[in-house]
Amino acid sequence: MARHYYIETMGCQMNQYDSDHLGRILEDSGYLATSEPEEADFVLVNTCSVRAKAEQKALSRLGRLVALKKKNPRLLVAVAGCVAQQRGTDLLARFPSLDLVLGPREIGRFRDILRKIENDGTRLAAVDVHRAPTAFMGRFEYFQHSVKAYITIMEGCNNFCSYCIVPYVRGREISRPPHEILEEARNLVLQGVREITLVGQNVNSYVYEKTRFPELLQAINKIKTLHRMRFTTSHPKDLSEELIQCFARLEKLCPHIHLPFQAGSNRVLKAMKRGYTREKYMDLIRELREARPCIAVTSDVMVGFPGESEEDFELTLGLICQIEFDNLYSFKYSDREGTPAVRMTDKIPENQKLTRLARLQEVQRNITLKKNKELVGKSIEVLVEGTSKKGQQLTGRTDTNKIVNFNSDSSNINRLVNVKVKRSSFNSLWGELTSH
Ligand code: SAH
Ligand code: SF4
Ligand code: F3S
Repeated sequence: MARHYYIETMGCQMNQYDSDHLGRILEDSGYLATSEPEEADFVLVNTCSVRAKAEQKALSRLGRLVALKKKNPRLLVAVAGCVAQQRGTDLLARFPSLDLVLGPREIGRFRDILRKIENDGTRLAAVDVHRAPTAFMGRFEYFQHSVKAYITIMEGCNNFCSYCIVPYVRGREISRPPHEILEEARNLVLQGVREITLVGQNVNSYVYEKTRFPELLQAINKIKTLHRMRFTTSHPKDLSEELIQCFARLEKLCPHIHLPFQAGSNRVLKAMKRGYTREKYMDLIRELREARPCIAVTSDVMVGFPGESEEDFELTLGLICQIEFDNLYSFKYSDREGTPAVRMTDKIPENQKLTRLARLQEVQRNITLKKNKELVGKSIEVLVEGTSKKGQQLTGRTDTNKIVNFNSDSSNINRLVNVKVKRSSFNSLWGELTSH
């Protein structure tokens, strides 16, 4: 009887990429994928710890998966990702039948670790955060059968923003050699991938010996049958003039940037240790729009950072209205154990955070609605990814990363098509196919 594995992934694209690697290793070790945890012999949850809520969700999910052992005592249960790194051996104590705690920098050792826990029932926590990310070495088969793929090009973060847990759970910045990234990109393209997103916590601080990020983009831009490339997440303090010019020069680089600003008040930005000012951020957006006028800009923002006054919050709202982001991911500040912000005084009460978040989201909602409405009547290029959630239409994305649904038979899946936009909403656009 074949053995099966089940992986559940929370958090960011870096976790998705890691889950993909873990899946490949499990397949190599004789397991087949299943979408039902009840049918699995090995289950793994890849977790996120960026906010308290994400951590709670991860722990409750892990609790449920561990409970499956009551029915299937031979089941192996593992937790990976940022909660695994943060809690380490504590998780083995908290969940007495949990088999493995695997930190993000330990994925390179997963093959050997798997053998060990399969063979002698060892329970272990592998959470050395200083390891080089060895999992990335070598050639990999890609089995997502999707037209889009991620490549993690750098791991970790050196910025230590005062609220953020990422540098503690993902370790220091380390970039992969460019030849390895290029080989992986070419391999993906050979397997049918047409859009590659380069990912990293600070993707634009990529540097390997003499190769910096713009040079890496230039090399990937030359891959013949690749249609589109993107990158995420960029940090404003490392957005160089050369990188901005890539948006003007490299035809495969999509006109979209995700550039988190976090706050619109210089006082708050300083307390967050972000390393730029409101004015600097606005200048960057202006330069990006000069380089590529159609560029879509999305961002992350936080409300309720310790000491955030009404005036600070108004400055955030003002920046949002001035820039008019295409979309915005907004969060309530959440205390993360071990970060300097935890010890800051003047914490903002939960109800005030909620009120500010709702006000901010209302402002952004109107901007996104307006921007999407401006596209009605226009003809846009869509990379078709598959069937829509309801299953009756096809769905894909514009180069600006907006979702478009339209009627078509499935022969257009994985192709670039032109669609004339007929209707728009907050989340997506609807259109009619005009050409293949
Ligand atoms: N490296 C990226 C972001 C990584 S975390 C960057 O620097 O922009 C993704 C987002 O989560 C952040 O942009 C921030 O808005 C949010 N976030 C991080 N720590 C948080 C915390 N303690 N509370 C609330 N939101 C947080
Ligand atoms: Fe966190 Fe700041 Fe690093 Fe982003 S840059 S991952 S917010 S510490
Ligand atoms: Fe979450 Fe870890 Fe990514 S904390 S956002 S999964 S780096």
